[in-house]
Amino acid sequence: MGNITFTMIKPEAVAANNIGGILNMIEEGGFRIVALKKVQLSAERAGEFYAVHNERPFYGELVNYMSGGPIIAAILEKDNAVADFRTLIGATNPSEAVEGTIRKKYATSLAENAVHGSDSDENANIEANFHFSYEERF
Ligand code: RTP
Ligand code: MG
Repeated sequence: MGNITFTMIKPEAVAANNIGGILNMIEEGGFRIVALKKVQLSAERAGEFYAVHNERPFYGELVNYMSGGPIIAAILEKDNAVADFRTLIGATNPSEAVEGTIRKKYATSLAENAVHGSDSDENANIEANFHFSYEERF
């Protein structure tokens, strides 16, 4: 397998019927989908996933939001996957996201920003392993 990143389509984007539109932008962006599933995280699992933020003021809100409805989890493959995917998704705050990015098109607020993208190769592997076994990757 080449270079990977991990993504989630967040609950509000799933609820708004934007799964297909976002996956289309991901594939058009040159990423290959290695693994894919729809799943609802418990508050405990969402808290564990975002444990790096557990001292931040928005942590409780983030855990409630990410466990509040089903998400799409996916492993994506591309050369330079982590950095190129951060470019494709755009800034955390959609008001700062540039035209052509997923967050510019689909995010509704700083908190509800449509997609997650890993921030390093190390975290991409940790996050992929958090959601997927090796039998689920092709
Ligand atoms: P992500 O991890 O989801 O890809 O987002 P990111 O790297 O662009 O941003 P990060 O700093 O890691 O923040 C994680 C997520 O927490 C929510 N957030 N809410 N209310 C707030 O001030 C606030 N700040 C961040 C967002 O959902 C953000 O994506
Ligand atoms: Mg982050």
